[in-house]
Amino acid sequence: MSIWKKHEVFEKHSLVLVIGILVVVAIGGLVEIAPLFYLKSTIEKVEGMRPYTPLELAGRNVYIREGCYLCHSQMVRPMRDELERYGHFSLAAESMYDHPFQWGSKRTGPDLARVGGKYSDEWHRDHLVNPRSVVPASIMPGYPFLLEAKLETRGIEDHLTANAIVGVPYSEDMIASARADMLAQANPDGDDVDAFLERYPNAIVRDFDGNPRDVTEMDALVAYLQMLGTLVDFAIYDNKANLR
Ligand code: HEC
Repeated sequence: MSIWKKHEVFEKHSLVLVIGILVVVAIGGLVEIAPLFYLKSTIEKVEGMRPYTPLELAGRNVYIREGCYLCHSQMVRPMRDELERYGHFSLAAESMYDHPFQWGSKRTGPDLARVGGKYSDEWHRDHLVNPRSVVPASIMPGYPFLLEAKLETRGIEDHLTANAIVGVPYSEDMIASARADMLAQANPDGDDVDAFLERYPNAIVRDFDGNPRDVTEMDALVAYLQMLGTLVDFAIYDNKANLR
């Protein structure tokens, strides 16, 4: 009996075929999934990554609440058109502290993974209040209320704690100081700035909403947008001399 005759068993009995398929798929699944349980980490660590500051985390919550992810992705793919438009492709490590991640699948607007530092705080303020004021043809909705909405400080410790439970390295000190840190980052003239920068060394301290009296949701959202994609210094990784 030739090998092709043996195959006839599968072709003539659908149940045998289904069992055969299951066996083959199970082997494929094992090969792909089993190693993940033995790797210490599936994400390669990169220098510069740190957890979000409490203010950035609050801004990220505003981003999710307002559904910005419905129009914006946060993942630069390794394709030439994307690299030329947005910059270095995204690394897995860059979203390792994102719970949930904001990669997204819809781009009505541009990708935001590297928007940090691209515009001034003032530009972001004007744009978020009325996108048409800076991009005349924009179809993005305005969010003027963010300037008025005082940032809710209650419960920020719980946000940090919840992130710590799923593996974000927030220390007890960071959690205990979350509320003070949140206000400190938006008050460059305040007394708590030094203590804040000790906990989050490469964070930006600025009055993001241009209103020194209040810490608003605009402060939080702009703080978040301005740090997106800025933590990893790609000069270290892309310099071929360093790779040798
Ligand atoms: C209905 C879809 C839509 C929603 C929702 C939306 N945007 Fe946009 N966004 C756009 C479009 C379209 C553009 C491009 C035109 C422009 O710059 O206004 C854009 C541009 C931007 C830019 C400038 C990006 C760049 O590189 O030039 C930023 C920053 C931004 N949006 C942030 C946000 C934030 C934050 C939210 C949520 C508060 C949000 N967007 C919600 C559609 C949207």
